[in-house]
Amino acid sequence: MTVVKTINEVRQFVKEARLKGMTIGFVPTMGFLHEGHLSLMREAKAQTDYVVVSIFVNPTQFGPTEDLATYPRDLPRDQMLCESVGVDLIFAPEVDEMYPAGHSTIVDCEGPITKQLCGASRPTHFKGVTSVVAKLFNITLPDKAFFGQKDAQQVAVIEKMVKELNFDVEIVPCPIVREEDGLAMSSRNSYLDAEARRQALVLSQSLNAAKASIDAGETRVSELIALIRETIQQAPMAEIDYVQIVDATTLLAIDELNDDTLIALAVKFGKTRLIDNLRIRRR
Ligand code: PAJ
Repeated sequence: MTVVKTINEVRQFVKEARLKGMTIGFVPTMGFLHEGHLSLMREAKAQTDYVVVSIFVNPTQFGPTEDLATYPRDLPRDQMLCESVGVDLIFAPEVDEMYPAGHSTIVDCEGPITKQLCGASRPTHFKGVTSVVAKLFNITLPDKAFFGQKDAQQVAVIEKMVKELNFDVEIVPCPIVREEDGLAMSSRNSYLDAEARRQALVLSQSLNAAKASIDAGETRVSELIALIRETIQQAPMAEIDYVQIVDATTLLAIDELNDDTLIALAVKFGKTRLIDNLRIRRR
């Protein structure tokens, strides 16, 4: 495994792999890796020949009052984990390499898809994500890029950007990886103290309750949202940012479940904001 910090080095290694006839898989991350990230890398390794992982805490996707300064970082540990799943190349640039002085070009996917859900409380987040991912795609030129359904809105936004800007890359969405007790894995879980960690279980529990209700025949969005909110409110520390049920592709609100629905939620425990979701596909 090779670790590089510059765009030129990435281009060189990717070019060499291509000359050998290899296909390129790409997994963008912000590091502090866990099983969720590693599952994407394993999938990339299974589907492509040469796997590139980026580790970059992208400042442009954090709002002014968010956790950029405290976002957890551990590059030596991340390198070991990448090596253990057979990653070929890590790109771990400094901020200046990605955003040299005077950098001012952004990629912004406009409209409701970035304004709803997380976009409502993080109004500049997705343009930071699309801008950095567009740059990373141009740097790594992957055949396939792997993203977690944990960030379902991010996947929908990236898929729209790829389609509309004609990037020649296949987006591969990968399932949410959870802790044994159901909490979706996240680098931000490290912010939770023991009590918040315990109470955070209401997120997956509320989605399971919704699933059970749907399995029993419920299709009304208002009823499902009420059930989810009630379950979350059983945790005294939980402060709901949103609970929404939307079309999984457009992310527009619906009144009744359709064939491909996304139930998405964001909840704060103290300063820590956690997200979770459930995709419901029906015929
Ligand atoms: P980060 O939060 O580090 O996540 C990197 C990738 O890992 C994303 O595709 C995310 O959805 C996936 N992931 C995180 N937790 C997961 C879990 N529990 N199960 C499955 N996949 C999981 O998302 C970002 O970084 C950034 O926005 C990035 C795309 C790198 C752009 O800066």
